[in-house]
Amino acid sequence: MVKSSSILSIAIVLLVWASLGEAKTQANKVKPETITCYNRGSKCFLKKVYCPIECPNVQPKEPNAKGCFLDCYSPKCETVCRNRKPNCDGPGAACYDPRFIGGDGIVFYFHGKSNEHFSLISDANLQINARFIGLRPPGRPRDYTWIQALGLMFGSHKFSLEATKTEKWDNEIDHLQFSYNGEALIVPQGLYSTWNSPNNELIVERASSKNSVTVTVPELVEIRATVVPVSEQENKTHNYQIPSNDSFAHLEVQFRFIGLSLEVEGVLGRTYQPDFKNPAKPGVAMAVVGGDDKYRTSSLLSTDCAYCVFSPEKNAAREGSMALEYGTLDCTRGIGGGNGIVCRK
Ligand SMILES: *[C@@H]1O[C@H](CO)[C@@H](O)[C@H](O)[C@H]1NC(C)=O
Ligand SMILES: *[C@@H]1O[C@H](CO)[C@@H](O)[C@H](O)[C@H]1NC(C)=O
Repeated sequence: MVKSSSILSIAIVLLVWASLGEAKTQANKVKPETITCYNRGSKCFLKKVYCPIECPNVQPKEPNAKGCFLDCYSPKCETVCRNRKPNCDGPGAACYDPRFIGGDGIVFYFHGKSNEHFSLISDANLQINARFIGLRPPGRPRDYTWIQALGLMFGSHKFSLEATKTEKWDNEIDHLQFSYNGEALIVPQGLYSTWNSPNNELIVERASSKNSVTVTVPELVEIRATVVPVSEQENKTHNYQIPSNDSFAHLEVQFRFIGLSLEVEGVLGRTYQPDFKNPAKPGVAMAVVGGDDKYRTSSLLSTDCAYCVFSPEKNAAREGSMALEYGTLDCTRGIGGGNGIVCRK
């Protein structure tokens, strides 16, 4: 009820706003925007590609409307309509108590332990760890766990994204907290509010006014994340026995990787190895995959797991050239969502 009434009030605000707006806004709605790619390797390099008529805008104002998206790393140069929020049923997803969908499309669970950290992705130039929170009701053999935070490392940079602890969940309150290279980062609330690191190495863009973001590291990864509580229904269905003084606010995440190496490791990463034999078989309900000992790290932003392969020194040269490529852009409005870049003249 809360949700639908807030959607209604947003819709009313939009209606008033739209009727006050100039003709230009109307024109924008009809005429699809164009979008392009600035990375030289892209099939879309400097091509102006029109958005589909079904989603004419890269940043639609309507809540839950799909946005126009151009994948600059795809072998095709084609715009598509896409949700701004993570799709928990798509490849690269990590949602619920955590349920993953591998690069091979296979669904699996990795339970880990609460208040510990595990590497989801470990590659030569990218590492992503997760902090698990959870509880173990009396008599249960294991912890129920959820992903509360992500720690991302690339080159010499460190970024973290956390769901803040909250007793009682409230949709009207933002529960996201960020840091970049050890400093707290403020990304003002508001749809499409954006933060760029000094040389555009990392971009954070809100995908709704609160509790949902897209984080992009050009040429490496795009992360869509939303903060949610454990719902009453989930608590009932799975008998989690959630106490009344903790909502277990956690993340729903979907990753999109660009150019992982063949040796990529991590709970999720290994499923992207071309010859990975997933111990979880397709169609088996609740396939649980182990690996605590291989992937445990000592903190959110450390790379010390037994199977971790992150080695940023090898990538120093690469990072220099990346900064050059992205640092010279003079048309950076709307970076994000797969690095399709919108230029308005
Ligand atoms: C979760 O379910 C248990 C019963 O299984 C109940 O005692 C508890 O209050 C519920 N927690 C919340 C937050 O609703
Ligand atoms: C909730 O209550 C339990 C026991 O009363 C306590 O151990 C725990 O720290 C409390 N959690 C929060 C988030 O306050």
